[in-house]
Amino acid sequence: MTKKTYIVGNWKMYCSPSEASLLVNRLKKEVGRVPADVEVVLCPPAVDLTTVRQELSEHDKFSLGVQNAYPMDEGAFTGEVSVAMVADLVHFVLCGHSERRHTFHERDGLIAQKVAATRRHGLTPILCVGETRHERESGHAKQVVADQLETGLSLLTPEEMGDVIIAYEPVWAIGSGESAKPGDAREMFEYIRKSLGALHGSALANAVPLLYGGSVNASNAASYLKLQDCQGLLVGGASTNYKSFASIIEKAAA
Ligand code: 13P
Repeated sequence: MTKKTYIVGNWKMYCSPSEASLLVNRLKKEVGRVPADVEVVLCPPAVDLTTVRQELSEHDKFSLGVQNAYPMDEGAFTGEVSVAMVADLVHFVLCGHSERRHTFHERDGLIAQKVAATRRHGLTPILCVGETRHERESGHAKQVVADQLETGLSLLTPEEMGDVIIAYEPVWAIGSGESAKPGDAREMFEYIRKSLGALHGSALANAVPLLYGGSVNASNAASYLKLQDCQGLLVGGASTNYKSFASIIEKAAA
């Protein structure tokens, strides 16, 4: 079976509903045919989901994801949106993005609950892992990633593990213009597979799609996509520009 390639656009906190509508319409026009083995996932801000969903009706080029969601189905959690609430709108949930970890101080335990709630609602979690510059320079990058993986996936049953995506996004590469060297990304992918294998068995470890994220653009996208273990990209800034995102999608479709 051919493996899928995932091109995920994380719009972060950009685009009001009307701007999102404009961006998605430009993307629909700019992006050519998307082959069946490439899945393009748009992750707009939660407030845009209904609008973007409507724009995508009768349109099969793009899937939808949410950037974050709360694990409890409902309750007194002011300001939060639950996985249950977005389950009708999206297929993917970003869990443990580095901005959630570092700006909003989310811990691995909460991230594990988000991953579990996502699977419980039949959606696919994209668990983001990655080390800070200090952690890399002090030689702890692999240990940090291993710990994030182990705790992040700890609440899943073996069956639920069958539908999980891991995105390796080194924190220092995010929004910095300094992307990881493809060789370093490859080394981390191999390590992630090894860690997953030790935790969940090699069959499962080999089946989990691994994505790279961190200053991906149209010029460097292909250098990650050609890595043997890389099954896609998690794109921030470049995904909010319809021309650059379309050109990244083209690389995956090539
Ligand atoms: P940039 O592509 O802007 O570096 O952001 C990466 C990211 O955080 C995607 O989730």
